[in-house]
Amino acid sequence: MPADKKTIDKAKKLRDRILDADHKYYVLSKPDIDDYTYDMLMKELQELEKQYPELRTPDSPTQRVGNDLSNEFPTVIHEVPMLSLSNSYDENDLDEFDRRINNLLKGVDYQYVCELKFDGIAVSLTYRNGLLVQGATRGDGSRGDEITNNLKTVRSIPLRLDKNIDIEVRGEVFFMLKEFFRINEEQEAEGRPRYANPRNTAAGSLKLKDSREVAARKLNMYCYSLRFLDAKEHTKLVSHYDNMQFLKKLRFPVNDNTKVVKNIGEVKRFCEETEANRDELPYEIDGVVVKIDSLKQQEKIGSIAKSPRWAIAYKFKAKQAVTKLKDITLQVGRIGTITPVAELEPVFLAGSTISRATLHNSDEIERKDIRVNDYVKIEKGGDVIPKVVEVVKERRAKNSRPFKMPEKCPVCRQPIHRPDGEANHYCTNVMCPAQVQGRIEHFVARSAMDIEGLGYQIVEKFIQLGYLKDITDIYKLRSKEKELKSLERFGAKSIDNILNSVERSKERPFDKVLYSIGIRHVGDRTAKILARQFKDIDNLINAKAEDIEKIHEVGPRIAESVYDFFHTKTNLQMIEKLRKAGLKFESEKSSAGSNKFEGLTFVLTGTLEKYKREEAQEIIESLGGKASSSVSKKTSYVLAGSDAGSKLTKAKELGVKVITEDEFEKMVK
Ligand code: IVH
Repeated sequence: MPADKKTIDKAKKLRDRILDADHKYYVLSKPDIDDYTYDMLMKELQELEKQYPELRTPDSPTQRVGNDLSNEFPTVIHEVPMLSLSNSYDENDLDEFDRRINNLLKGVDYQYVCELKFDGIAVSLTYRNGLLVQGATRGDGSRGDEITNNLKTVRSIPLRLDKNIDIEVRGEVFFMLKEFFRINEEQEAEGRPRYANPRNTAAGSLKLKDSREVAARKLNMYCYSLRFLDAKEHTKLVSHYDNMQFLKKLRFPVNDNTKVVKNIGEVKRFCEETEANRDELPYEIDGVVVKIDSLKQQEKIGSIAKSPRWAIAYKFKAKQAVTKLKDITLQVGRIGTITPVAELEPVFLAGSTISRATLHNSDEIERKDIRVNDYVKIEKGGDVIPKVVEVVKERRAKNSRPFKMPEKCPVCRQPIHRPDGEANHYCTNVMCPAQVQGRIEHFVARSAMDIEGLGYQIVEKFIQLGYLKDITDIYKLRSKEKELKSLERFGAKSIDNILNSVERSKERPFDKVLYSIGIRHVGDRTAKILARQFKDIDNLINAKAEDIEKIHEVGPRIAESVYDFFHTKTNLQMIEKLRKAGLKFESEKSSAGSNKFEGLTFVLTGTLEKYKREEAQEIIESLGGKASSSVSKKTSYVLAGSDAGSKLTKAKELGVKVITEDEFEKMVK
């Protein structure tokens, strides 16, 4: 039976009341009802929706608690790329920036707006008709992951607006420090490792497959940009500051530590004061963002490739702390690199507790004269990995002990070697368990063969038990099914999952296989380029180093490493085994032998019926073409699906050829 009018009204009332409470609690920090009442309202709404599923609207607050559908993250193209900011580190850099602005605006008056630079993850929210319809990560700036369900769990993000407008809002998702600490306490209580820092934890949380888990993590957001999707939309808003106030009225979370200032001197003062008080904020910031306030002037000044010229980030100096270096241990990576690691007396620094820091290599230790039992100054810069800056010499103890690189690998006890001209030492034994473990972890990673269930501890255990001696053994696990299932602490179900995932990985395309086998200096991008150029593994095996080097974007260092890899007997044996196991060692047929899209640039727009966007992009790239996110005179074709918007208009304006999916399909064939 469908819900009657009274029930429909009741559900709406409940939704409105809860969304209003969310805003008061999460944005204004002024709750107006207690937790119990809130929970009761939510429960009532959930019951109603359970009884009448048609009442479960996309803007219902019940959507914030997540659901058990496993998220997949299709790629979305950002219509306007999500740029980054150029950095400045001191007053001189700011003066320089101001001079450039002065020149670009030719003496016309201007104002700056100073904002906090939140240390989180950039996201984009799209509202159509006032309804949140899409949430996405920044990704590489032109394409990100669609994470709508996960973003809906962020309680400060409005699910519906009072105005029926089409807008894109961008901002930063982050953790309040209190929440981050709470999560870490929970981790500890449950015997799981602590998270390193709020920023990475926020990034990881947004990519969780189960939105209920995301909901449990109580992420937060501040918005810092607004764009009307309808180009015709004329608004009275003329400045960035106005835009932000407009967003605030629409109940978006907008930070109040913002200031419009008249000159660069005042900018500097804002930066100085903010840096001095940064520790008082309940969240982490890593600088100040300075923007030209007038939207017209922003447009006039424009952008360069990666960042706008009308804005700059003023980065704070890295935070430092002093602590005792208890020991220096060695880590062996997947290609045998031996990295010395500082084991520290745990110390709190910039949002997390630090107990280890990299020491890079033995030269570095010698140069800085770092000894065990020293007090050292550590800092966390732009990188997440903390580093040891220097020794506090005044506090050097009598028992301080200089470090000496051992002659044998700490894991397998085989000799270690330092090649001429290199700063690193290497374990030379390819069978070293640490290397094997590293290679297997790389191989199964999501960005590589994407084999689920083979986490760090399981891999370690399987290596110990002799089931995994190298990556090829992964494809022999099925023959050990019985033994694996009888292992203590492994459920039959989790073994089934692993085996199924191993089977599925055989479908991974050639470029992923090439990336996964762990050729030094070959990241996923280089693997893509090599796969496209050489089509199959035999061409690559037979290629001369100079042939490889000739390829655009492949330098001599990569070429040499690729050449060496394919001239090592054990590697060729490994490839044969993987080939027999059924892995793909050639590019898909459609692309093999054809580069017919070479030199062509495509822009996709609207909803495609036959392909996912990601697929269409892959086809274009596999045929040597480029998929771009914005239409220009250089665009060869705009592939338009239904509901195509501004890009289609632009294509027509510029006289760029527009094609349908059918036409595209013909071109591909
Ligand atoms: S404006 C085109 N404002 O910093 C300019 N960005 O290094 C786009 N960020 O990717 C950014 N706080 O994730 C802007 N108040 C703020 C910001 C901010 C943090 C992040 C953002 C961006 C990165 C650039």
